[in-house]
Amino acid sequence: MSDTLKIGLIVGATRQGRFADVVLKWFQNKTADRSGFDFDVIDLRDYDLPHFDEEMAPAYSEPSSGTAGRWNDLLKEYDGFIVLTPEYNHSIPGVLKNAFDYAFTGWRRKPLGIVGYGPSGAMRAAEHLRVIAINFGMVPVRGAVHIAGADFFANMTDRDADGFPEHLDPTIDELLGDMEFWGNLTKPALANA
Ligand SMILES: Cc1cc2nc3c(=O)[nH]c(=O)nc-3n(C[C@H](O)[C@H](O)[C@H](O)COP(=O)(O)O)c2cc1C
Repeated sequence: MSDTLKIGLIVGATRQGRFADVVLKWFQNKTADRSGFDFDVIDLRDYDLPHFDEEMAPAYSEPSSGTAGRWNDLLKEYDGFIVLTPEYNHSIPGVLKNAFDYAFTGWRRKPLGIVGYGPSGAMRAAEHLRVIAINFGMVPVRGAVHIAGADFFANMTDRDADGFPEHLDPTIDELLGDMEFWGNLTKPALANA
């Protein structure tokens, strides 16, 4: 089994003009030389999931076809996920919650990391997401990136992918350290389950 963890970078905002793209590029630049991970972008814009419309909850009946089946099958390819999320009205964007609702086994028992951004750094959104993740038996890790307050506002207009301060770098290391620790435990365990 490969030592590399295949991690889906989920872009959790889809609105036109989203700031998410700046954060994504920054995170990709910062992690480009990082060994131990194979990152893929999972942009919710590309999946166009309708509002949840399945007859059964994916937790009770694994979807095998259609929108839900394809989405769950995609998630099953990954050893863990890092979600880039803003905060919308003190929680995660509805489109992101919908994406979680649409699957179950694809998320199950995998580590979940968070990169939050916005005026509040998406602190409350991150806490909500951790609680949601528990219902999938995921491991929401402690290490997290929060681009908040002045760090966010200073780059809000420039939208420069290199425009965030270096003091955020150690938070990326903490996040990835936790993802590596848990991912290396859950990956073989899931393979043997
Ligand atoms: C509908 C909506 C609700 C928002 N609510 C919050 C909030 O509760 N807390 C916060 O810090 N920022 C809030 N914001 C500001 C966003 O954090 C900021 O606009 C950020 O850029 C959104 O990410 P996006 O541009 O990738 O969509 C909100 C923005 C929108 C569009």
